[in-house]
Amino acid sequence: MLTGKKLLYAGSFDPLTNGHMDIIERGCALCGTLVIGVAKNHSKREKYPFDARSEMITLATGHLANVEIDSFDGLLADYVNSRGISAVLRGLRACADFEYEMQMAQMNARLYGGAETIFLMAAPSYSFVSSSMVHEVFSLGGDVSGLVPDKVLEYMKSFEARNIKETIR
Ligand code: COA
Repeated sequence: MLTGKKLLYAGSFDPLTNGHMDIIERGCALCGTLVIGVAKNHSKREKYPFDARSEMITLATGHLANVEIDSFDGLLADYVNSRGISAVLRGLRACADFEYEMQMAQMNARLYGGAETIFLMAAPSYSFVSSSMVHEVFSLGGDVSGLVPDKVLEYMKSFEARNIKETIR
């Protein structure tokens, strides 16, 4: 159905988790190109700068041939319409996600030029994961291995080490 089509998976990815990776890998198998759109979410406090989030995604998705990484600031629907995206991909983790996702899909449907929103059920092993929770556990010294791709974990560690060095200086 989506062969040869462009699908968008957007999020703040602050940072990318294995829950996101599950949706990315399954999304790649469904379409021609999966665009990963790193978005500014103005209602959230940023933990990693925009560029760092994109770099982490680049490192973690190197094995996927049909991924394109981009970023945008503004309306998701404007980005969808300007890039010729056929559908937006979202992951549903739990019933609690449903109401918010339905509102967002319906609002976006008014604004999209014909694109659809497609939902995949999140893998049960990651349904409790969120970027903020991973970041909080990591920044307090907890073990997040297995919750983020290994290359993302390495990046988070070196980012933290650089920040500590700069604070000491
Ligand atoms: N596995 C694990 N975690 C997941 C997940 C999955 N499959 N899917 C989502 N999450 C996590 C995310 O990491 C995020 O965690 P956080 O809140 O701790 O950062 C949380 O669930 C919520 O995810 P999501 O709803 O995708 O939020 P987001 O901030 O990552 O992305 C945008 C939201 C950017 C897509 C949305 O705000 C947007 O479209 N912004 C553009 C402006 C716009 O058009 N607004 C009008 C919309 S109608």
